[in-house]
Amino acid sequence: MTALDVRAAAAGVIGDVLGGHSLNQALPSRLSRVGERDRSLLQQLCYGTLRQGPRLQAVLGLLLEKPLREKDRDLQGLLLCGLYQLDGTRVPDHAAVAATVDATGVLKKHWAKGLTNAVLRRYLREREQLLQTLDRAAAASHPPWLFQRIVEQWPAAAAAVIEANNQQPPMTVRVNNLRLSRKSYLAALQKEGIAATAGDLSPHAIQLAFPKDVWELPGFLAGAVSVQDEAAQMAAMLLQAGAGERVLDACAAPGGKACHILELQPGLAELVAMDINTARLQKVSENLQRLGLEATLLTGDATHPPAHLESASFDRILVDAPCSASGVLRRHPDVKLLRRERDIAQLAEQQRCILKGLWPLLKVGGSLLYATCSILDEENSQVVHRFLTEQGDATLSSINSSWGEATACGRQLLPSTGGPDGLFYALLRKTG
Ligand SMILES: C[S@@+](CC[C@H](N)C(=O)[O-])C[C@H]1O[C@@H](n2cnc3c(N)ncnc32)[C@H](O)[C@@H]1O
Repeated sequence: MTALDVRAAAAGVIGDVLGGHSLNQALPSRLSRVGERDRSLLQQLCYGTLRQGPRLQAVLGLLLEKPLREKDRDLQGLLLCGLYQLDGTRVPDHAAVAATVDATGVLKKHWAKGLTNAVLRRYLREREQLLQTLDRAAAASHPPWLFQRIVEQWPAAAAAVIEANNQQPPMTVRVNNLRLSRKSYLAALQKEGIAATAGDLSPHAIQLAFPKDVWELPGFLAGAVSVQDEAAQMAAMLLQAGAGERVLDACAAPGGKACHILELQPGLAELVAMDINTARLQKVSENLQRLGLEATLLTGDATHPPAHLESASFDRILVDAPCSASGVLRRHPDVKLLRRERDIAQLAEQQRCILKGLWPLLKVGGSLLYATCSILDEENSQVVHRFLTEQGDATLSSINSSWGEATACGRQLLPSTGGPDGLFYALLRKTG
């Protein structure tokens, strides 16, 4: 079978995202159809185009006389990807234009050759004037509603957050402290010629100077390390599970935080790793196996936990709630095009129902750590505040840390260029 043209593949992926599919749904099948040497280029084209998506869409709107038809989403994807290459890559302009025009043939849209050529060449000629006409949100490559919220909720940090959201994120690993120390693993990386530095926040974090395929990391298969952003490594540290305790990770898949909890406290009585999505639980199982760890896996809905989970039977609960992903846009740039403003209130309600559903499972004196990868107050402090007003036996424990920003009900890490992702944490205690 001949390999798929990389630009046509990127056009298909971006077209699918424009049609409402996530990058995780759209990319893997295309990745397996392009030549091996084109795989990282395909990823770069898709991630790069989507990170700049709102800006490129606004530019394309100015360049097209009339909008493309829905059935030509792949062509729209191709044009966005072509514009991205003219700004965001080292591909020479003439080569980017020629390859993009050629890809119209692969998409079997020969009629679009002239249009594609004209759009890209006009962009090269009129780039400065066109970019000047964009509004602030489009210029910053963010949907307007999200841009406005970031500016309103984080006035001092907004520019840095927006900048970080548009960059490629760092690759960070978590050293499995049951196997080896961070110092030993840094030495192992150095021996392989992989440049890396110790993380600032987590004692187990190592940041790689350049992203690597996990299989190139020494000892990965044998469970020496896992890929996990430093902000996410704060969860297990804040949970502070003790020996002999029963812990519930209620939204556990793919298991990054669950595995870290087990690495930090190998003497737990039990860790129950629950998730609503059975297919995603399989990933937890694979991660546990690779790391040589054990947990009880359970498919279940945290809003109505399975009946066999007894009341007041867990010492600690981690709720890494489903959220807008507004703190990890650089890792999930499709969210910029897929997320709608109206989703935020729905997510907040879901998060409230999850807290309410799980609370009876917590022992008196036990702690629940609420986490999101959102930077929006509606999903963070506001959810916790409402829960505290509704639940008389819940109190807020303060998080005394040197990292992040204190908010009304917790602590917020903001995404930073070359630094951690944007995660929120709040710690609740059950009183008698
Ligand atoms: C942010 S991810 C969790 C990431 C995970 N804690 C980790 O560190 O690898 C949120 C998870 O919540 C799950 N989820 C969504 N709604 C749920 C519900 N009502 N009950 C349980 N899990 C749910 C999703 O399937 C998803 O796997």
